[in-house]
This record gives sequence, C-alpha cells and structure tokens, in this order.
Amino acid sequence: MKIGILKESAGENRVAMLPDSVKSLAALKVSVLVEKGAGAAASVPDTLYEEAGAAVASRADVIKQADLLTMVNGPSESEIGKLGKGKVLVAGVNPLTNHDLVKKYAEAGITLFSLDVIPRTTRAQAMDILSSQATVAGYKAVLDAAGRLPGFLPMFMSAAGTIKPSKVLVLGAGVAGLQAIATARKLGAVVEAFDVRSAVKEEVQSLGAKFVEVEGAVDDASAGGYAVEQSEDFQKRQKQMVHEHCVKADVVICTAQIPGRKAPVLVTKESVEAMGPGSVVIDLAASTGGNCELTKNGEVVVVHGVTIVGESNYPSTMPRDASQMFGKNMLNFLKLVIGEEGAMNLNWEDELVTGTLVTHEGEVKHDRVKEIMNK
Ligand code: NAI
Repeated sequence: MKIGILKESAGENRVAMLPDSVKSLAALKVSVLVEKGAGAAASVPDTLYEEAGAAVASRADVIKQADLLTMVNGPSESEIGKLGKGKVLVAGVNPLTNHDLVKKYAEAGITLFSLDVIPRTTRAQAMDILSSQATVAGYKAVLDAAGRLPGFLPMFMSAAGTIKPSKVLVLGAGVAGLQAIATARKLGAVVEAFDVRSAVKEEVQSLGAKFVEVEGAVDDASAGGYAVEQSEDFQKRQKQMVHEHCVKADVVICTAQIPGRKAPVLVTKESVEAMGPGSVVIDLAASTGGNCELTKNGEVVVVHGVTIVGESNYPSTMPRDASQMFGKNMLNFLKLVIGEEGAMNLNWEDELVTGTLVTHEGEVKHDRVKEIMNK
C-alpha cells in the first residue's frame, strides 16, 4: 500500500508524520508519498523525507496515488469530494462537533478514521492525539502566560529586594491541566488546581500544587475517564469558589471540558472584573466556547487590565515537536491497519479500528458521533 502525507491548510504548521515515521513504514513494506512542502512549516524540509525513503510529489499526485491519506486536521470542506470514493483518510477532524463535515465525508464515500475519538483505553494511549497535543498546549499555555505577565513567575531574591512568586490557578486537571501545573511549578509559581473529578487530587498534589475542592460532585467513576455533567447547585457553588480563587490569581489557565459539549463557563465577567490588572487568563477551551465568559476564540482581548487569550491551536505554535508526537500516534494507529507485505488490512475485529472509524461506505459509523448528531 501507499500512504500519503498531505500538507495542511494555511494557519496549521504541523504535519501528520515526520521522516522517522516514514522510515518505520518503509520497514513494514509500505511506501510513502509526501506532498511537496508538507513539513516546511514544521522546519522539516522535503529532503529529509526523501532521505527517509519517501517520494515527494504534488498534492494531486499524492491524492491520486495514495491508498491511505494522513493529515493533522483533514482537508478543507471543498476538497473532501475530490479525494475520491473509497479513499481512506486518517486525521483528527473533531467529529463530535463538526457534524456538517462528517456528513460531507459520508456523502463523498470516504473511509474516515478520526484519531481524536479513539477510545481512551490503555492500548490506545500510544495513538491518542488528544493527549499528546493537549500536553503541548498545557506546556505552551504557561509559557505564553509567563510572556504576557508584567512580572516573574518564581520568587525572586536579589540585592534589589524580594519579589513574591506569581499565583497560577489551573481549572481542569486533565491532560493539558496536569502539564500546565507541572510547567508552572517548574517555573517556580505557586499553583492551585481545581477539577470536578476528585480522582485527580493526588496527581495534582504530587506535582506540587494545591487541590481546591468543592463538595458534592457527581461521581464520574463509570464515565470511562471523562468528566460528567454536574448539578445546578454544584455549579453555583463551584462558580463562587472559582471566583474567590481567580481574584487572587495572577494567571488562570482554563482547561475544563466534557468532550462533545460546550465548555463549562467557570470564569465569569464579574470574576475577570475583580482580578488584578496585569493578570492573564489563558483559555485553552476557546474553540468550544471557552471556560471564561469573555474569551473570544482566536483572539487576545484585554478587559479591565486582564489579558484573556483565546488561542485555540497552541500545538501549531510548536510544530516540530507537536508533529513528532502526533506522527508517533499516527504511526501506532497505522500499524493496526497494515497487514502482511505492507498491504492494507482494515481489521474490523479490532475495537481501536472500529472505535476510530467515523464514516465508511457512505454512512456515519461511530456510535457517539451518531448519537450526538441525532440529538
Ligand atoms: P481532558 O478531558 O483530559 O481534561 C479536561 C478536564 O476538565 C477533566 O479532568 C475534567 O474532569 C475537567 N472538567 C470538566 N468539567 C469541569 C468543571 N465544570 N470544572 C472543573 N473541571 C472540569 O482534556 P484535555 O485533553 O486536557 O484538554 C483540555 C482542553 O484543552 C479542551 O478544551 C481541549 O479542547 C483544549 N485543547 C486546547 C488546545 C489549544 O491549543 N488551545 C490544544 C489541545 C487541547
């Protein structure tokens, strides 16, 4: 089989696989075609792909000749129909919210595997693009906040006096949140974190942060590692508690989410107004509405002296290493669909293959996507 790596649309600097993955695919007897310039924005020239054994070709040729195409975000809507019926695409298209896009893939007869819906099981960890990219985002969010703060993150003692460390509040302690906590701690900040899942308390504490608790959360033990929706009363008390901690924070990193839903609003307009001037809110949940009421997706706004950052693609700002991680996830998934002598083998017995399949033979196949689309 031939696997293609396509260049992403403008504004996305990552690439689906780096040359080291090409080498691994060659060892599995799979040949790789790379679109000219696909890795350029991630500082990976075509020559490195060629040295790894790939052939570099035009976009049209890669689409025509490859049996399976790989991308970070998938092609533009207008290009979906041009991929050709029966073509296999592996990417991360966010099918839980991009319903029109999913319909287009089904109508075009594309076999679409979206790595962002892979079941969160132990075996799938090595293929989980949400986790690897959220790790990048959690790290970069703290660096971005540090760059925008009018002060230091760590305590500073010098002949010019002592400066107190900054206070960082992390809302949501999943993958991005835990990475943000670890990064902020490494940079010397005093860190607090809050999550509705009490199971993360120990992890938060082991990273050196204080876990802020609200009593009476709905137990999420049966939700497969995801958060569940909380009662109205809980949300009210949670808002009050978050407000009290926001007011004292220099930096708030927002990462709370329930997959497939609008992001919960945790930082209200009133909280922002009560924060100190110069404080920074980094809202990683910007693309799903934001955890902060005043977040504008894709924009940086300053309200009452508080900078609110709605950057929704931090991984693209660290494209080489983000692509390295994405590419490893991609390669590990591809190994599930590569059979003997490098032939394509879509193994429908494998729950990770079926759990990632979104559209096939003109139909939407993914249960959770179907359920949400039919609501
Ligand atoms: P995750 O699912 O691992 O973690 C989310 C956490 O939020 C969970 O621990 C959950 O219990 C918690 N949570 C849910 N509702 C809450 C509430 N009401 N109050 C407090 N905590 C609550 O998600 P992950 O992978 O860490 O991603 C976090 C966010 O970052 C998502 O919105 C994701 O889309 C976004 N993201 C943003 C990027 C960017 O560049 N801006 C890049 C990657 C991810």
